[in-house]
Parts: sequence; C-alpha cells; structure tokens
Amino acid sequence: MDLGLKGKTAIVTGGGSGIGAGISEALAQEGVNVAISYLVEEKQVKAYAQELTSTYGVYCSTYYADITKTAEIDAMIEAVTGRYGGIDILVNNAGIWPTEELLDMPDENWKRVIDINLNGPYLLSKRVARSIIDAGNKGVIINISSKSSMQVNTPGHGHYVTAKAGLNMFTRALAREITQRGVRVVGLMPGIVRTPINEDKWQAGGLMDEYVKRIPVGRFAEAVEIGYTVAFLCSGKAPHFTGTTLDITGGMLI
Ligand SMILES: NC(=O)c1ccc[n+]([C@@H]2O[C@H](COP(=O)([O-])OP(=O)(O)OC[C@H]3O[C@@H](n4cnc5c(N)ncnc54)[C@H](O)[C@@H]3O)[C@@H](O)[C@H]2O)c1
Repeated sequence: MDLGLKGKTAIVTGGGSGIGAGISEALAQEGVNVAISYLVEEKQVKAYAQELTSTYGVYCSTYYADITKTAEIDAMIEAVTGRYGGIDILVNNAGIWPTEELLDMPDENWKRVIDINLNGPYLLSKRVARSIIDAGNKGVIINISSKSSMQVNTPGHGHYVTAKAGLNMFTRALAREITQRGVRVVGLMPGIVRTPINEDKWQAGGLMDEYVKRIPVGRFAEAVEIGYTVAFLCSGKAPHFTGTTLDITGGMLI
C-alpha cells in the first residue's frame, strides 16, 4: 500500500532515540523528510539523520530544541520551514518517565513532568498547526501518549500518568478545533517498548519476564512498529482518524 507521503516534511521531537527513532525511520521509509529534534546526544542524532538520509534517499536534518522553551520551539519551526518550505506532520514524541511517589515528590519534579509531557506538545502543536493553516495546507499532528494514561499499574508515576491523560484530552480538544481547518490530531498509546526511558528499570530488577507476562501478544513492541502506525495515521489512507488516542499496547488494556 503506497501511503502517498513521499516528499512530505515531519518534525519528530526526540526523534533520534527510542520510539522517536523508530518513528523517524518508518516515516523516512515512506519518503518523508524528517526534522529530528534533540536535546542531548547531538553527535549520535546527527549520525542517525545522516544514516536515514543515505538509506532512504530523503533529507533528514537535526534541530536542537527544548520543548518547554518557546524561543527554542519558534527557532526550530522557523528553521524547518525555511529549509523545507513548510511542515506537514508533527509527532509530539519527546517525554520523560521518572519514578517517585507523590507524597515525597518535590513540587518542581511534578511541574517538570507536566511541562515536558503535556505543555511541550501544546506549545508545539499550536505553533505548527498555525503555520500549516496559515500556509493553506493540510497536516497531521500525532501525540505519543501511553497506556498509563488509562490505568495506574504501579506506584511512582503520578505526574506521568496525569500528564498523559491530559494529553489524550488535549488531542480531542485540539482535533475539535482544527480538523475542519485541515489538520487531523491523533494520539497513540504504546504499552511497553524497550528504550532508554525504561532501561534502568530492566537493569535493576530482572523485571523483563514479569512484564512480558502482562502483554497478550507475548513481547514488547519494537520502536519501528509504533512508527509504522504513525506513518499510516499520517497518510491519506487514514482520513477518518482524528480526536482519538489509539491503543497500541499489544492487548495490555484488554
Ligand atoms: N518506552 C515505552 O515503553 C513507552 C511506553 C508508553 C509511552 N512512551 C512514550 O514514548 C515517548 C518516547 O519515549 P521513549 O521510550 O522512546 O524514551 P527515550 O528516552 O528514548 O526518548 C525520549 C526523548 O525525549 C527527549 N526529551 C526529553 N525531554 C525533552 C525536552 N525537554 N525537550 C526535548 N526533548 C526532550 C529525549 O532527549 C529523548 O530523545 C515518550 O513520550 C514516552 O512517554 C514510551
């Protein structure tokens, strides 16, 4: 199935590691030029963009931006628009997943998790949507939520689950306002994908087998599999997906 995405431009926040890297790869496979935002590991992210460019014959590039800082977001959007002529797809993927119980949590840590996992997607989405609409184009915004937006299986993630549940409702609210103006907004909730965000947890307690037992399909998702779904949702083959957050947990929410 040709998704018809060739020549489109996407920004993927945190697109150089973990799930973001899988999303960048799946989009590049479909001929999308991917602007990968990064915060750390500049050298590796630049090398990754170069690898995608030479493997898939697209033009991938990298942009430093802290998604909680409006000046850095604005500079990135301006640079991407200047380089590619416009933006068609935004994937709000960047996020953090610290573990700390609510009663012991410093207030700053609560605010930081909400800032990165919820406020960041808001700041980016409104700006990118505005640029797409003002240019008279159509586009898609994908918000990477989490299974944890729907249920709280473990203690220690009160800030994270609250932010991701908020992101689901933000997806609906934004979709309600801009779908008719040509921009669809769709969320995806992964279950467990083994990435740098959770690597310390696996190292710590031999949790792997315990977690796999909770996944009906019997294994963790690969990052690029999340990417394939993102590519499909961004395409013209998925015109009726908007304002929803899809379960891509391998059955963990059954
Ligand atoms: N890995 C999982 O099992 C899992 C499950 C459900 C949801 N998710 C979500 O998937 C997304 C990607 O996570 P991942 O597992 O690939 O982890 P990851 O740590 O590999 O990726 C997170 C990315 O976000 C970037 N980032 C963090 N703070 C940032 C900031 N202030 N500004 C810009 N970039 C910032 C990091 O540099 C990194 O590139 C996150 O939103 C996460 O909540 C992951």
